[in-house]
Amino acid sequence: MRLFVGIHFPEDIVDQITALQGELRRKINGGRFPGRENIHLTLQFLGETSPRRIAAITTALTAAARAHRSFTLSLGQPGYFGKGNPVRVVWLGISGELTALRRLQGGVASAMHALGFKEAGRPYAPHITLLREADFIHNEDLPWQGRIRIDTGKTAFFPVETFSLIASTVENGRRIYRDLATFELGLPK
Ligand code: 2AM
Repeated sequence: MRLFVGIHFPEDIVDQITALQGELRRKINGGRFPGRENIHLTLQFLGETSPRRIAAITTALTAAARAHRSFTLSLGQPGYFGKGNPVRVVWLGISGELTALRRLQGGVASAMHALGFKEAGRPYAPHITLLREADFIHNEDLPWQGRIRIDTGKTAFFPVETFSLIASTVENGRRIYRDLATFELGLPK
């Protein structure tokens, strides 16, 4: 099964993210939007994994969670992966306690590395995927033009108190994410 470790957002934050997706929807001929239930922040992609390994992964992630305290994030500005139109991925960046986020990501990555999972091979770039294969109607709206902005005055800070081990499957042509386990960050603030 395909697994990854990720952070879910509070519903009001997901509302802000889907509002931005709504803005993007008006600017494109086509593209694929992750549904609101699939919006998340990846900490570590594990890839195709035998279900027999879930117990060991869960034990290791429980220990990693206990070793890190909860922290606060907020939504950042949009960015993109790829060049040219259609744009491979349009994403939303993250602000707030990024050092704590990176520390947690490092803890999760080394716990998974100890179980034999490969390092990502590139630096961790925290992002929330908003839209894939985005075919923008107007060149001026391409993400590198910087016209799509998020009003940071309106974005709330939100606590990150847990993260999850998530299984990704395709059912009836739809990508479904399911939490296999959720881990509470351990150290008091
Ligand atoms: P993405 O949103 O930028 O595609 C589940 O696929 C999650 O793991 C997604 O958030 C995805 O990021 C992330 N991920 C990281 N590395 C990946 C890889 N090599 N293949 C697929 N997904 C990956």
